[in-house]
Amino acid sequence: MTDTAVADNPAQSGPESGDGVRRRDFIYVAATSAAGVGAASVLIPLVSQMAPSADVLAESSTELDIGSIQPGQAIKAVFRKQPVFVRRLTPKEIAEAKAVPVDSLRDPQSLEDRTKKGKEEWLITMGVCTHLGCVPLGTGEGEVKGEFGGYFCPCHGSVYDTAARIRKGPAPKNLEVPPYEFTSDTVVKIG
Ligand code: FES
Repeated sequence: MTDTAVADNPAQSGPESGDGVRRRDFIYVAATSAAGVGAASVLIPLVSQMAPSADVLAESSTELDIGSIQPGQAIKAVFRKQPVFVRRLTPKEIAEAKAVPVDSLRDPQSLEDRTKKGKEEWLITMGVCTHLGCVPLGTGEGEVKGEFGGYFCPCHGSVYDTAARIRKGPAPKNLEVPPYEFTSDTVVKIG
């Protein structure tokens, strides 16, 4: 029997009916529990949407074996669905980065600020231009690196140096350095 069927029958729901009160109680209870079930079924999908799914958790960090990257080479990996650049600087690139007076930079940071102590040959940055988010060139063999030898963003011409610091063009900031740590000499965990 549905709630409507009970409510529509005055003989059953009227005050003169012997069990009218009890039936009204039933309608009230039934309606309350239906609302309760409804609320629960709305809550469960909401809660499951808020909890990170397994693949999101897996992507919250990226572990890379960088042992085979030679000085002067770079790779492009993925971290939280965005490109990340891992570059092994040559002694010349390190010297070029260090030769720039930090306070002359748009986003003043030294190479030391942007690398781990004792590991300054490893430059790890997001591969996302800080202007409007394009992926700069400079990791691939033969790709344009721009006049400062780092990265070049083809979208609007931002130029980054060998420490991935902005040197020219519209980008306001250096390429972002993500949180990372070396878990061994050749393995780095990003995130
Ligand atoms: S997005 Fe890189 S210069 Fe505009």
